[in-house]
Amino acid sequence: MNIALLGYGKMGKEVERVALSRGHNVVLIIDTDGDWYEKRSQLSNLKIDVAIDFSTPKSAVRNISKCFELNLPVVVGTTGWLDELEYIKQTCIDGDHGLFYSSNFSLGVNLFFELNRILAKLMKAHTEYVPQIEEIHHTQKLDSPSGTAISLANDLVRNLNNKVAWVNQEDAKFDEIPIVSKRIDDVTGIHSITYTSSDDVIEIKHSAFSRTGFALGAVLAAEFIKGKVGIFGMKDMLGV
Ligand SMILES: NC(=O)c1ccc[n+]([C@@H]2O[C@H](COP(=O)([O-])OP(=O)(O)OC[C@H]3O[C@@H](n4cnc5c(N)ncnc54)[C@H](O)[C@@H]3O)[C@@H](O)[C@H]2O)c1
Repeated sequence: MNIALLGYGKMGKEVERVALSRGHNVVLIIDTDGDWYEKRSQLSNLKIDVAIDFSTPKSAVRNISKCFELNLPVVVGTTGWLDELEYIKQTCIDGDHGLFYSSNFSLGVNLFFELNRILAKLMKAHTEYVPQIEEIHHTQKLDSPSGTAISLANDLVRNLNNKVAWVNQEDAKFDEIPIVSKRIDDVTGIHSITYTSSDDVIEIKHSAFSRTGFALGAVLAAEFIKGKVGIFGMKDMLGV
């Protein structure tokens, strides 16, 4: 498969390593605002099958739109642009394009998402336990809270009767889920959910050891979406 990498930072480089190890070619790298323009003459000759975007919250929407324009299925791992997700989904449907988005591509985190939903259903009847999400990432992360923490929080809002929204601070109203974000050097990604009562605490936690799990999930998503149109996520690929 011929892959275009949109974003060649920490994740882009790891995706390249995993893609090459699975026998794919990386035929185009876009890593700045100007690259689409500077590399425009090469685009028609490259026979790109899929693009994979791990860029920045500011550039993701423009990159996705460019892929739609070129009729390229696109896998998006960039977070921090959710305000425009509905617009992008509609554009994808209207134009018969292919989009695979996940706030987290690791198998472990997607199993953790399921565990979070199951635990929330169990805790629904036990309102004496107060839920809280904590996420810790490296200091270069641009968005806060993490896309993964937002996905976890949205699942809590859907599954706990007495919660209607999340806030990105510890101090929350009784019907809000607090998400506490911490930035510490070299932490790949830690997410935990706690339910605290006056007597005890229940905690579930996921810690990523490296970026390889995210990169592998993104390359598998690229293999999955090749030649397809529509909107896809990890549930479609993994069934979890
Ligand atoms: N979904 C997931 O599983 C997952 C996992 C890890 C990280 N992420 C997200 O992926 C994104 C990238 O993370 P990272 O750690 O690689 O960041 P990074 O800062 O290391 O890399 C971002 C790269 O984007 C490039 N860039 C800037 N403008 C661009 C443009 N217009 N087009 C293309 N590239 C451009 C930068 O030059 C940089 O190399 C972040 O939003 C992060 O939160 C998602």
